[in-house]
Amino acid sequence: MKLIQAQNDQAVGELAAQKFIEVIGKKKDAVLGLATGTSPLSTYSALVNAYRNGKVSFREVRTLNLDEYVGLTEDDEQSYHRFMRENLFDLVDIKLENTHVPCGTINPEIACKEYDALLDRYPIDLQLLGIGGNGHLGFNEPGTPFTQRTHLVNLTEKTRHDNARLFASLDDVPKQAVTTGIYDILRAKELLLVVMGENKAEAVAKMLRDPISEDCPATVLRDHPHVTVIADAAALNLLTKQELEEFK
Ligand code: GLP
Repeated sequence: MKLIQAQNDQAVGELAAQKFIEVIGKKKDAVLGLATGTSPLSTYSALVNAYRNGKVSFREVRTLNLDEYVGLTEDDEQSYHRFMRENLFDLVDIKLENTHVPCGTINPEIACKEYDALLDRYPIDLQLLGIGGNGHLGFNEPGTPFTQRTHLVNLTEKTRHDNARLFASLDDVPKQAVTTGIYDILRAKELLLVVMGENKAEAVAKMLRDPISEDCPATVLRDHPHVTVIADAAALNLLTKQELEEFK
């Protein structure tokens, strides 16, 4: 695992975008695993800028997102389908038919099976990740078996609370989601975790220090051979100098 410290949110985004541009530069039909939430916003905005400046094209690229809330239609303001269109897909030259986000409005069992088939068909070259305050990846909450594939999740109260800032009220935050499992996250050739803010410092420290276990899903990233973490100083402020050196 390689840890890169960036000055601020924007710098995290620019470095992460650079990684995407390199991957697409080598393989124009690369398969990208994408994430939602606040953390990847600066990455998407740097990618949109790079596209506008002619530095990258998404014409042949395919994308598979990590997760979606259950019960929100694609057009719902809080759906991850809509998030992806507003922050990336509608702003670059990607073909919408090459973008995939788990479906939150059909029978979850069918949605999960369909998504697993897509994951098998299109192996991911580069997977972007954020980390939840409790160490979750995608919506894989603590306790989720690492062997699980796409599945229905009951969101923890912590996660609903953390994500409530984006909804009108806590009651509006869905109680369930469909998420890609840790098994498939680990199958990506390369993983890129973007982290910013003090509220993530504890999760980052646990990811690096705790035993690798389902109690803190992000610890599993230490098992993957190609992981880059790009973080701002606030997200790293619980780490010792020695730890920062060790993961350099
Ligand atoms: C959500 C998403 C995750 C994301 C996490 C952190 O629960 N499902 O994929 O990494 O929250 O979100 P944020 O970046 O907004 O802190």
